[in-house]
Amino acid sequence: MPLSNLRIVADSRELAHIAVEEYLRKSRDAVNKHGRFRVALSGGSTPTSLYQLLADPAWPYVSEVPWSWTDFFWTDERHVPPDHPDSNFRMANEAMLIPARVPAENIHRIKTENGNTTEVARDYENTLRKVFSLTKDQFPRFDVILLGMGIEGHTASIFPGSPVLKEKRRLAAATYVEKLKTNRITLTIPVLNNADLILFLVSGPEKSDILRTVLEHAPNPNQYPAQAIKPLHGELLWLVDRAAASELRPPEQALKTA
Ligand code: 6PG
Repeated sequence: MPLSNLRIVADSRELAHIAVEEYLRKSRDAVNKHGRFRVALSGGSTPTSLYQLLADPAWPYVSEVPWSWTDFFWTDERHVPPDHPDSNFRMANEAMLIPARVPAENIHRIKTENGNTTEVARDYENTLRKVFSLTKDQFPRFDVILLGMGIEGHTASIFPGSPVLKEKRRLAAATYVEKLKTNRITLTIPVLNNADLILFLVSGPEKSDILRTVLEHAPNPNQYPAQAIKPLHGELLWLVDRAAASELRPPEQALKTA
């Protein structure tokens, strides 16, 4: 992993602030360049403090975010109702979208009220095509895609051994996660790797082992899907705190082998 793609910060609090700075940098670039900022929000717990910080009136960020020019999508969703405690939409909605009074037309959630996971994924795909004005074979190019990583190396809802790892055509896919006994909907790897900036947010000692494996061991994306994330023409930044980075080789050692 070239060192320039890895930034180690003190703790989860600093991680949220640095993530906000990256988010603001890219949102300003995007709006200046093409008048819109399109972001795919990750689920899980790590990004919650980033979302809260962006919308918190106690911090200066809220007035710098181009809320009205932003299209909010999700990297993945659990196939639960949008008001379910496990819903990634509900987490971001409560942490950020409601407090920032984001207009409903800017929010493109994965519509999980339909009981058929495949139909939900197809509907989400149609929304992506419409909002990005895509032709049949085009992939959306997000300005920012936020990603987390599970302790076994999954990212978005792409888990080890998942058939989604081989999906080259679809924009979104339905997937059954054996480990969690749940259905999920996820953006596919071609979409993730088409982003302008992919920002991994990894925090906590429980991620130290998998982070070392993903960043320092030989590529094995079928076992560690996070290793499949390599932007074709954009930036990749791993933003990790010291606790998650505790098992990584010191920079001087990494330089010798880079
Ligand atoms: C989800 C996420 C998932 C998440 C990782 C890390 O739906 O759960 O999209 O990929 O990013 O599981 O989750 P934590 O941030 O809670 O460790």
